Amino acid sequence: MTDYILALDQGTTSSRAILFDHAGRPCGSAAQEFPQHYPQPGWVEHDPDDLWTSQLAVARQVLREARVRPDQVRAIGIANQRETTVLWERATGRAVAPAIVWQDRRTADACDALRAAGHADTIRARTGLELDAYFSATKLAWLLDHVPGARERAEKGELCFGTVDSWLAYKLCGAHVTDASNAARTMLFNIHQLRWDDGLLALFGIPPSLLPAVVPSSADVGMTHADLFGAPIAVAGIAGDQQAATFGQACHQPGMVKNTYGTGCFMLMHAGGTPAVSHQRLLSTVGWRLQEASQPCYLLEGSVFMGGATVQWLRDGLGIIRTSGDVEALASSVPDSGGVLLVPAFVGLGAPHWDPYARGTIVGLTRGSTAAHIARAAVEAIAYQSAELLTAMQRDAAQPVLEVRADGGAARNDLLMQFQADLLGVPVLRPAVTETTALGAAYLAGLAVGFWADCQEIAAQWRCARRFEPAMPADRRQALLDRWARAVARAKDWEA
Ligand code: G3P
Repeated sequence: MTDYILALDQGTTSSRAILFDHAGRPCGSAAQEFPQHYPQPGWVEHDPDDLWTSQLAVARQVLREARVRPDQVRAIGIANQRETTVLWERATGRAVAPAIVWQDRRTADACDALRAAGHADTIRARTGLELDAYFSATKLAWLLDHVPGARERAEKGELCFGTVDSWLAYKLCGAHVTDASNAARTMLFNIHQLRWDDGLLALFGIPPSLLPAVVPSSADVGMTHADLFGAPIAVAGIAGDQQAATFGQACHQPGMVKNTYGTGCFMLMHAGGTPAVSHQRLLSTVGWRLQEASQPCYLLEGSVFMGGATVQWLRDGLGIIRTSGDVEALASSVPDSGGVLLVPAFVGLGAPHWDPYARGTIVGLTRGSTAAHIARAAVEAIAYQSAELLTAMQRDAAQPVLEVRADGGAARNDLLMQFQADLLGVPVLRPAVTETTALGAAYLAGLAVGFWADCQEIAAQWRCARRFEPAMPADRRQALLDRWARAVARAKDWEA
């Protein structure tokens, strides 16, 4: 009888479930998109019930379609969109408000006020994060201030806060938990002491009773309620999706780098056993802490808010492609973008700019510009933003970055991968399994239950499927990057 690990990958635009066998091969997968809500400009919300029901549905679907019984699933691992903030009733498990998504900018002014009051340096020193609306703390404070009765109920211990991992774990097995990789994204967690920071809780006005217990990333979380899958299954791994992808890419040694092309783009470098200090406005964050007593792994991160979501906008906003997969053909139908640049600052700019007031911009249009040029510019924008991250990382890092491991949906796009290698000036490696977020969650859960012995066994499973070598002359690359910088300058500080 073959055994499997079931990975749940709750992302910003879709919920996915993938079964992995002992060789780390995907043996079945299912995915569902769910509605995005934009109630006001700059706001992005999810219905927490959509997150849960879509995730449960794909988990059941993948077991059914692969004809795998619950007793063949040794464990479940959870990877999740990070920072997104959910508030629910402890007694009933009912959400009391829409989830405020990581891309939501509604608390930008609250961050400005904290910056003006001189708190940015303390926050960076304790959490490794830039003071920005991206992270959960100001979103949670907003919910407590705007949902009727929420603050009083929170003070009485009636409510639970969690990022999406916590929300799913609560629904799956009734445990109010998170792991350090997710806690590190709340702006309430001290990454040096690996615990909630009393001073920051006071600064943001967060009652401690709201907070989940912080458990290791690879450990027994609990058993799922028996009625969900027909028999209980152990939940044994939790990590934020980007940290899970780093683990799944086997970036287990200091200096190794991966870039995930999901809704956003997230470039992470293994930084060793102590928090990295960035001078380039990158984030210092917890990667994973395998067991209670084990040394955590820290990462240096560059976060870009619009990656694959830019292609989704071509599909849903502009309507120039029917499916996201159509973008490669449309973009390849022209030899270049014809001088068009698209800066996808739809929800502001993340690293290294941190400008919540930047907005999307298209420059360089001429009478000859077509939908194909805009599609090409959108694809290229994903690569330009990632190139900015690598430049910042190269400046911060002790050693040069030799290669970048790529994953996520858009990593299947050959045009993008080649342009990315050209812009980075280092090889881009696409692994055999590009769903490395799910794979990383599976590895974390599988390690906890002895399905895999150790990190060496996991690293030995990593395979390169295709290597993209940089082929662009250095002067051409620099000219393109300079022109991109001019376009970004036009997008900045737009929305007052
Ligand atoms: O920090 C946000 C990130 O976790 C979202 O990931 O995969 O939904 O783009 P993704």
